[in-house]
Amino acid sequence: MGVSEATTARYGSDLALPAELWNETVDVLLGHRSVRAYSNEPVPEGALEVMIAAAQSASTGSNLQSWSVIAVTDPERKARLAELGGKQGFIARAPLFLVWITDLSRVARAAEARGMPHQALDYLETFLMGSVDAAIAAQNAAVAAESLGLGIVYVGAMRNKPEEVAAELGLPPRTFAVFGMAVGYPDPERPAAVKPRLPLETVLHREQYQADQDNQISAYSATMAAFYAEQQMKVEGDWVEHSARRVAGPESLTGRHRLREALQKLGFELI
Ligand SMILES: Cc1cc2nc3c(=O)[nH]c(=O)nc-3n(C[C@H](O)[C@H](O)[C@H](O)COP(=O)(O)O)c2cc1C
Repeated sequence: MGVSEATTARYGSDLALPAELWNETVDVLLGHRSVRAYSNEPVPEGALEVMIAAAQSASTGSNLQSWSVIAVTDPERKARLAELGGKQGFIARAPLFLVWITDLSRVARAAEARGMPHQALDYLETFLMGSVDAAIAAQNAAVAAESLGLGIVYVGAMRNKPEEVAAELGLPPRTFAVFGMAVGYPDPERPAAVKPRLPLETVLHREQYQADQDNQISAYSATMAAFYAEQQMKVEGDWVEHSARRVAGPESLTGRHRLREALQKLGFELI
């Protein structure tokens, strides 16, 4: 894809970006789409390691590297994780399912082995740091996978039943499956479309926050209503309606309204 084609697919109109600022990396990034339908082709030997080396190459808070990832290929375990993850069938159908872990247990073990204290691990800040680290690492792996022609989709539904997921994966205390990621070659018979995003200027604020975005949001909402219809997605209404429903109340959180309690059971005090 070229700059004009890629930005038109993403925003509905050409951003007229300078062609000399376009390269293969940016092309892969702007070409992202979540892939939930996979071909029968297996993930090639070594691709997992390329993804994880890319993930480990990401920046990491204080170089603590407070994340881990569990690669699941066993069909029965994938099926159980699909069941725990909102009964999303693509989890079981993907040849590879990665579960990304906020992991404060490794540094706890390392400090304990030296007889050193690690009370800062009990603070919300450190939990957030590990979760941010996991997300940054995962996105590097996602981009590496997409650059190899693989497709991915994140799975936040791993947080629906955190204790059951932890038991399934044998997680030690102070670890948490923050999200999953299904990986596989896209099924050419069921290609995913590039999903439009909010206008660039809606998210890019210059110098100070600009809250007056009603017109941009209305325009995007209409674009998305057309996209839902065109893609035959089972979404009622437009983007605003869809988004407002997702945040309407605790019942919209598919079990995650009790996340604090679950995390405390998993060994995070979140002071
Ligand atoms: C942290 C996170 C969790 C997600 N969880 C799910 C999920 O459980 N199921 C799903 O089908 N898609 C999930 N997605 C994918 C989003 O729905 C998708 O990225 C978004 O609609 C934009 O579409 P695109 O990725 O095709 O551009 C998740 C995405 C992120 C970043």
